[in-house]
Amino acid sequence: MKNENIYPIFDRMLAREDKEALLGQRGVMLWLTGLSGSGKSTIAIALERELHKRGLLCRILDGDNIRSGINNNLGFSEEDRVENIRRIAEIGKLFVDTGIITIAAFISPNNDLRQMASGIIGAENFLEVFVSTPLEECEKRDVKGLYAKARRGEIKNFTGISAPFEAPEHPAISLDTSKISLEESVKALLELVLPRADKKEDKI
Ligand code: ADX
Repeated sequence: MKNENIYPIFDRMLAREDKEALLGQRGVMLWLTGLSGSGKSTIAIALERELHKRGLLCRILDGDNIRSGINNNLGFSEEDRVENIRRIAEIGKLFVDTGIITIAAFISPNNDLRQMASGIIGAENFLEVFVSTPLEECEKRDVKGLYAKARRGEIKNFTGISAPFEAPEHPAISLDTSKISLEESVKALLELVLPRADKKEDKI
């Protein structure tokens, strides 16, 4: 049994509530899903700045960063994408349990993957944000030049081209960055997250 001789000390550590009281905020996971180039990272960065300005502690977890560090042994097969998201969800849970507003920006291309993440983190802590910018727009932007490479067959299993992307069924919010500005996306997310996360907004 692989968990033999393991004695977790969760019950003796300070609780999440203690951290949240210290910070004056509540932990939550904002899980941004969408195609490469849809605007996930840009939104995450702008949102983090706005929350920080309001005295709220955040942590961004982003695809390319995580894949160059803890997940640098993973590729883009179905199996590796599951392990990628599983590890990210476990890390995200640690941040949420520390009372931190955690913003994850990963393609996470199907419902099973996102459900797994929500299950690990806890559905009550999990807000699914669909960055729904259409493929044509993402491909037109092609910020990293990856769509062109994928079309030439130089990248295998590229999401949207040679690997599937399944749209979320019931996201908390959808943001199509081909239709709305960055400021509008951030404003909508602030309205979603502030009442949940900022104790300064609590009605007495
Ligand atoms: S996920 O599908 O496993 O959730 P993740 O968000 O971590 O993907 O990483 C996506 C980033 O990896 C893309 O933004 C892109 O820069 C890069 N990438 C490299 N190869 C691929 C590929 N085959 N499919 C999608 N993204 C890829």
